[in-house]
Amino acid sequence: MQKQQAQHEHAEHAEHEHIEHELEHELGEYKLLEIPFINCLAENDREAIRQFNARIPKKNMQLLIKKQKIQVLLKEIDFYHIQTVVEEITKKYHSESNILTNIANSIAAVKSYGIKGKKRIYVNYNNERKVQGRSAKVEKRGQYYYAKEENFSQVNQKIQAKYIDKIICGDSENILEKIKDNSVDLILTSPPYNFGLEYKEGENKQEQDDKAWQIYFEKLFAIFDQCIRVLKYGGRIIVNVQPLFSDYIPTHHIVSQHFIKRKLIWKGEILWEKNNYNCKYTAWGSWKSPSSPYLKYTWEFLEIFCKGSLKKEGARENIDISADEFKKWVVGKWAIAPERAMNEFGHPAMFPEELARRVIKLFSYRGDIILDPFNGVGTTSSVARSLQRLYIGIDTSEVYCEKARERISSTLQH
Ligand SMILES: C[S@@+](CC[C@H](N)C(=O)[O-])C[C@H]1O[C@@H](n2cnc3c(N)ncnc32)[C@H](O)[C@@H]1O
Repeated sequence: MQKQQAQHEHAEHAEHEHIEHELEHELGEYKLLEIPFINCLAENDREAIRQFNARIPKKNMQLLIKKQKIQVLLKEIDFYHIQTVVEEITKKYHSESNILTNIANSIAAVKSYGIKGKKRIYVNYNNERKVQGRSAKVEKRGQYYYAKEENFSQVNQKIQAKYIDKIICGDSENILEKIKDNSVDLILTSPPYNFGLEYKEGENKQEQDDKAWQIYFEKLFAIFDQCIRVLKYGGRIIVNVQPLFSDYIPTHHIVSQHFIKRKLIWKGEILWEKNNYNCKYTAWGSWKSPSSPYLKYTWEFLEIFCKGSLKKEGARENIDISADEFKKWVVGKWAIAPERAMNEFGHPAMFPEELARRVIKLFSYRGDIILDPFNGVGTTSSVARSLQRLYIGIDTSEVYCEKARERISSTLQH
């Protein structure tokens, strides 16, 4: 009996040696996982592994039985397909050790891989980076050279308690002046775009949405300068902007230039794809003519800037983004439908809650202070509240501020 077992093991060993040799020499690199087992593998476990190998192409993944361990060679797999195969085989060759389920769990625990279509890629997924010695070259070029001579204080402060979880009615330039330096973690905002929209008026009539561009930008930058001052070192400001194409004003570039001039680091840009294909095809008689074709846009931008450092301090236990959300949202193009409840809220230019939810979870920790200096009816504030952050929302219109307060209290009741 013992002899039989030894012969069996020898044959199996030879078979796997062969496969391994083939894998190493013909198929290139794999990611290797090793799963130890204590007792001998039962025959139905061995059969389950053979069946598994027969169903999954060798070039994608293989299982090798070694002494007291199973080697999992991973290259690229559709994990959900693997789970299905595991379930089917486990049902058929039911074994008490559930060897394939353990293997699937070990694969699920591997967190570093690339994604190609439905497949997880475990090796060489960084290979499209063809640059050798990338970090040294980045260093030589002078990463974010434009922000190098900043002199922001690195001492962050506790914000005054009276501003926490408040919707404040007034001009942001004046309100922000009273808030301490370096005391806000994240600013998410969407300023009035100067499109000529009919906002509810604030305390003075100057906030109308059709100012001369110079006056508009002077005011906007005065508010952004206050935002920069109140941001913590390592804090982020994320501005949702849409250029005014009809006036040929690239607002997103002009706003970005201002932050760069103030020595903030440009972290990146998210393209918010709204898929609203309802804009006109032509303007000024240039239909089907190169004389002056009018470009159509179905998206807006989110420009992301950091004060002093790209890294933000925070406790691990205050991270609330899931692995799937993270993987999806770091791809800088977000398809989110425009807000549909603008009539209900009585505001002409809201952004959707989903946009705020993604920004807040991706760029802040639970317990952080989130400010919106153009708060409208409180999309940023109410989402921040529901995600267990602290909020400050400022808007000139008392009507919008009241709506925002109602919205937050109804969020709290749910
Ligand atoms: C594009 S809307 C923001 C909408 C908001 N994101 C939402 O989802 O409700 C811009 C807002 O800025 C406000 N606003 C304009 N000038 C302001 C100022 N100087 N200080 C504070 N708020 C201002 C307007 O009343 C308007 O509600």
